[in-house]
Amino acid sequence: MGNVIILGSQWGDEGKGKIVDLFSERFDIVARYQGGHNAGHTVFIGDKKFVLKLIPSGILRPGKKAVIGNGLVIDPAALLSEIEALESAGVEVTGNLSISNRAHVLFPSHRMLEKMSEARPGRVSIGTTSRGIGPCYEDKMGRRGVRVADLLDTAFFRSQYDSVMQEKVTLAKAFGIYEELDLGRIREEYEALAERIRPMVCDTALLLNRAIRGGKTVLFEGAQGTMLDVDHGTYPFVTSSSASAGGASTGTGVPPTRIQGVIGVSKAYITRVGGGPFPTEAVNGVGERIRQRGNEFGAVTGRPRRCGWFDVPLLRYTAEINGFDSLVVTKLDVLDEFDNIPVCVGYQCGKQEVAEMPPTVRQIEKLEPVYECVPGWNASTFGISSFDDLPIKAQEYLEFLEDRTGVEIGCISTGPERTQTIIRRGSRLEKLIA
Ligand code: GDP
Ligand code: IMO
Ligand code: MG
Repeated sequence: MGNVIILGSQWGDEGKGKIVDLFSERFDIVARYQGGHNAGHTVFIGDKKFVLKLIPSGILRPGKKAVIGNGLVIDPAALLSEIEALESAGVEVTGNLSISNRAHVLFPSHRMLEKMSEARPGRVSIGTTSRGIGPCYEDKMGRRGVRVADLLDTAFFRSQYDSVMQEKVTLAKAFGIYEELDLGRIREEYEALAERIRPMVCDTALLLNRAIRGGKTVLFEGAQGTMLDVDHGTYPFVTSSSASAGGASTGTGVPPTRIQGVIGVSKAYITRVGGGPFPTEAVNGVGERIRQRGNEFGAVTGRPRRCGWFDVPLLRYTAEINGFDSLVVTKLDVLDEFDNIPVCVGYQCGKQEVAEMPPTVRQIEKLEPVYECVPGWNASTFGISSFDDLPIKAQEYLEFLEDRTGVEIGCISTGPERTQTIIRRGSRLEKLIA
């Protein structure tokens, strides 16, 4: 038992929320390390549904502490409305949540500027969540961002605000994307929001490292997925943060030497929302069948998710980048009614075998998946909580994935609820969360 990272091994929406909620019972603190309210992590507890965006899913466990790390970009209005919604559903948030003083603050002007890359003629649209995430990270890396600590320093914030905003207005006007923003009213709103978050703000790196020294354990919750990571994903069709395991250290200030394990979450198939290459995308109605069975519509934007088959080379690539100790395979039940299940076991480009994930979208678009068809089980796996109770062909499907990816499958999810989960006895995963 130690400190463990849970993150997406595909293009996001793998079911991280459900798994983090489930495993957080065994940890003291759950910490998010990147992203913003572009994330949508769905958790079902009985008949109650929660969609967590900025707040770590661990908040749903009474008494557990939750941390929003320095690696996030925070829209304070979105954060407070998330807190209010949770508290009105009976979840205690303010006493259990700590927010990094070094996280960056997202403003309405970031949403406006997103149109510069997304809606301008001649630009390739990424199909973002339109939350302003990219422009906020641009300001961070451009060393002109406003951090939570700056927002709380009212005199400083007032003195900086006008020049920061004027720059955005000038840019937006130059690119013909300006929308009337009441800058004075926004400043006042942010000052009021600052007072409401102030009691939760602290140096979360110190808090986490002290807690670890005191024997407490931390579960790190990734948002998005490795193929959306700004460095390792299908650039430029990525998000603007480090969703992979390395991001957990930079995004919280907990050193790599204090992290004992990395668990990847993957669907039994694969989905992607937004633009970008997707070698195993299923077309001709099959994708639609997966979408309907899996209810594959975005938790944040409601957009239909593109659906396709499990991609072994992609998983091997993300396992390499993250060093997965174990894999959680979710939504096995969605494949219950297929006679045959194609699995991509390799890529070809023309007659040439392609062993490694190519770096460019141009190259990835040319990949032709090589499929092996695994027999389906045509029986319900919904809610099954023991590996031995799974139909033999479903067991064989999982063993096939395990064999081809070279990564242990330590946990299988067979439904959205906590109890609809299999943890394999004797697995590395079981030891990591013991
Ligand atoms: P996240 O962003 O990785 O947390 O994933 P999302 O919450 O965006 O999407 C996953 C969806 O699948 C959610 O609606 C979950 O409730 C649901 N889900 C998770 N695990 C399972 C499962 O094993 N079976 C089924 N049928 N649904 C699941
Ligand atoms: P969770 O944490 C799936 C995708 C967007 C778009 C790209 C860039 O729920 O898995 P952005 O708004 O981040 O600049 O959009 O990334 N994207 C996600 N796709 N799940 C997510 O989060 C995502 N967050 C962003 O659709 O393609
Ligand atoms: Mg999601």
